[in-house]
Amino acid sequence: MATHSLFLLPGDGIGTEIMAEVEKLIAWTNDRQLTDFSTDRGLAGGSAYDKYQRAITDEDVAKAKAADAVIFGAVGGPKWDDTPYEQRPEAALLRLRKELAVFANLRPAICYPALAAASSLKQELVEGLDILIVRELTGGVYFGEPKQITDLGNGQKRGIDTQVYETYEIDRIARVAFDLARTRSGKVHSADKKNVMKSGVLWDEVVKGVAADYPDIELHHILADNAAMQLVRNPKQFDVMVTDNLFGDILSDVAAMLTGSLGMLPSASLGAPDPATGKRKAFYEPVHGSAPDIAGKGIANPIAMIASFAMALRYSFNMIELAGRIEAAIAAVLADGLRTGDIAQDNRRIVGTEEMGAAILAKLNA
Ligand code: IPM
Ligand code: MG
Repeated sequence: MATHSLFLLPGDGIGTEIMAEVEKLIAWTNDRQLTDFSTDRGLAGGSAYDKYQRAITDEDVAKAKAADAVIFGAVGGPKWDDTPYEQRPEAALLRLRKELAVFANLRPAICYPALAAASSLKQELVEGLDILIVRELTGGVYFGEPKQITDLGNGQKRGIDTQVYETYEIDRIARVAFDLARTRSGKVHSADKKNVMKSGVLWDEVVKGVAADYPDIELHHILADNAAMQLVRNPKQFDVMVTDNLFGDILSDVAAMLTGSLGMLPSASLGAPDPATGKRKAFYEPVHGSAPDIAGKGIANPIAMIASFAMALRYSFNMIELAGRIEAAIAAVLADGLRTGDIAQDNRRIVGTEEMGAAILAKLNA
């Protein structure tokens, strides 16, 4: 069987604890001879800074590029608040996204039935929720130039970020969204601010052009602010939502919270298929951060990390069946009443990171 290479970047804070649960799953898939994963590990974020004074080394970026998939934990924490801006922990993440050219960030927001009551919205609004946010990840205001603070010399400074999109960037992310919509309900909402922004006007124009190639898909335009409002008013009206880097960052946090906890949500970031091999560069990470406040205590929720690994199985290795089994195991453990602290509910058993990981593995073995 072909060997698949995984490059693990646990990062900072709870990153290492939740990655440990994924490593157990990787070992399990190998032991069962379901596949043959080889793994290597690197440092990213504050942990890399402490050792190398860099958010990530060139060697680790090269390893990430060479791997079939990168599994990333989380970076950051107050300890590194004063590191130089270029080497702040988040710089590792942004550099990896850019150098791997993983432009398509898939952020599913699924409400597990057992957690519907844990949402900040009324249960009936979120029960059965299954949204997929497709966020453009390598362009827009995150990377546009100029990006600087200049001194105007009169006691004033000017901070500039540049929101910029070119046709091909919008075209390719729109196609990812439309293709995914074909495997789901056939509906896409495209969110921008074309009422204020030129990049939004272009965004809408290009998305509508792509839609002409997908006559079977229903396209709805929505202004990004309205999208935020509608997400908390009536989230189930959405299925696939495609949007730019910054709006996607914000809207995916809103969508995530609808499901009960940020600790539940995985993400996949995919590049373009290589014309020769058909392989895509891919990067999998939980949507949540490094949670420095609870790091090292063994109480972090490993579900988003484990579900990110399931996405890797689905999108990088075409192991759809096993991905589905892992997702079902997560749902089953929640249905049994197991909870980490972040999703605690009355009368449910609170468990730690390892116990949650072990319970999911036990379901897979059952
Ligand atoms: C995310 C995060 C990152 C982003 C930060 C950590 C740079 O919020 O992945 O959503 O803004 O993209
Ligand atoms: Mg974010």
